[in-house]
Amino acid sequence: MKKKTVSFDYEVVDTIEQLAESDQSLVQAARNAMQKAYAPYSNFLVGAAALLHNGEVISGGNMENAAYPMCICAEGVILSSVESNYPRASIQTIAITAKSNSVKLMEPPSPCGSCRQMICEKENRQQAPIRIILFAEDTEIYILNTIKDILPFSFDGSVL
Ligand code: THU
Repeated sequence: MKKKTVSFDYEVVDTIEQLAESDQSLVQAARNAMQKAYAPYSNFLVGAAALLHNGEVISGGNMENAAYPMCICAEGVILSSVESNYPRASIQTIAITAKSNSVKLMEPPSPCGSCRQMICEKENRQQAPIRIILFAEDTEIYILNTIKDILPFSFDGSVL
């Protein structure tokens, strides 16, 4: 039997001011989107913003529904918007933030499994990694190089 290990490197910074200017703007776009999120059931507001290689920024927040399974994650909102408005554009960086009205976040938010799979599909389609910035107020900021780091053994269309 062989044993293998999966590990990955990511960057951590303490404050938004330590980010490059373009990342700071993207973080601000995600924050603004979070303020507009519609999350009356979970009270967990998520904002996401994608910087495209053409310079456009697409942002959005989670959108909940009284029929709970119909809730749409912020990442799903922006990925759908990118696909429908800029189908040929690739994404350079995605910033994701969240705040809870009931729990103090001690770590930055991390995309759920479905959103990881959606971001992975986009990476595969554009054949280039997407940087991901995860942050919340008063937490460290994580900068990931690719979604595949947090979606090991990902499923892709090559077997279909
Ligand atoms: N949510 C997101 O927007 N993104 C994620 O990656 C995880 C969860 C939303 C869905 C729901 O509106 C709320 O957060 C609580 O799960």
